[in-house]
Amino acid sequence: MQDLCARTITYLRLSVTDLCSLRCRYCMPAGGVPKRDHGDICSVEELVEITQAAVDCGVRKVRLTGGEPLVRRGILDICQRISAISEVEELCLTTNGAVLSQLAKPLREAGVDRLNVSLDTLRPDRYAYMTRGGRLEDVFRGLEAAAEASFAGTKLNAVLMKDFNEDEIPDFVDIARRYPVEVRFIELMPIGEGNRTQFLPAEIVRSVCPDLRPIEGSGVARRYRSPDGRGTVGLIEPMSHRFCAACDRIRVTADGKLKPCLHSSQEIPLRGLHGEALRQAIQAGVAAKPERHHMNETGRSEAGRNMHQIGG
Ligand code: GTP
Ligand code: 5AD
Ligand code: SF4
Repeated sequence: MQDLCARTITYLRLSVTDLCSLRCRYCMPAGGVPKRDHGDICSVEELVEITQAAVDCGVRKVRLTGGEPLVRRGILDICQRISAISEVEELCLTTNGAVLSQLAKPLREAGVDRLNVSLDTLRPDRYAYMTRGGRLEDVFRGLEAAAEASFAGTKLNAVLMKDFNEDEIPDFVDIARRYPVEVRFIELMPIGEGNRTQFLPAEIVRSVCPDLRPIEGSGVARRYRSPDGRGTVGLIEPMSHRFCAACDRIRVTADGKLKPCLHSSQEIPLRGLHGEALRQAIQAGVAAKPERHHMNETGRSEAGRNMHQIGG
């Protein structure tokens, strides 16, 4: 499936819920978000049907996102049924890690290949502050359980924020030196609650840790390695180093809207469509994929939704 800019789309990011167990300050409003009616959110059958149609159109990698995908009832069933689609070469999941210690093994058994875990600080007090009540030790226990369940290629995602975790850059880089994981620094995007005054260019990581050596990039990340590092460091720089020209992804929200671009308000409703009509709607969405986002010019995302309603 190619878009009008000749980009080949092979990656589906499927949000399975807009709810979350945490309330990160840059993502969720303090009061949380109203729980929607069951019927507003795609059923397991609909999620599988949409994924199958996307696969028929050429998708080969699927990532489950949220909100927090592990709070979705039936998440193991969803994983099992999507991993059973033979053309799905990689099934991944992005999680905040809060309940991963209980679910790592069952997720692996349900066919999940790889995990990305959101972790913006390594200090328990800061973690509790940023997530409005989360416990850092839960995430650490989740990471241990993931390793025990033989998950490989796990990535840690840290959103860089001035006056919050800037001073922890060396500690994060040290984790990528000591463990076989990829630590990725993400530039804060002006979406939802994202506070522009806290923005830090990810390039700062390279000035703080000058011994990082460039290696081959992967997806939206530029990548580096310390000379003696077991793991790698990634920089995701939607603001300073646009990667739209190489974008290979589409998104589907938990309420069944196809978003050709994270930062565009364009949405194509997929619910109620089946078979050829569903495939055509997905192809129409891909054809409508914008060439790039305009956050640098406008200073804000045009996504029209909060991050927890899209899944990153
Ligand atoms: P891999 O499969 O491991 O490469 O993961 P990924 O980077 O595709 O997924 P993940 O959910 O870990 O995303 C990490 C961060 O990158 C999230 O904060 C996303 O919001 C951000 N991100 C992912 N894709 C895009 C994109 O297309 N555009 C922008 N601007 N940001 C993105
Ligand atoms: N800017 C950058 N990343 C964000 N995320 C959520 N909101 C933002 C934002 N405004 C990240 C989370 C998680 C991923 C799914 O999206 O930290 O790693
Ligand atoms: Fe939940 Fe992720 Fe938002 Fe944090 S960033 S509140 S974990 S959806």
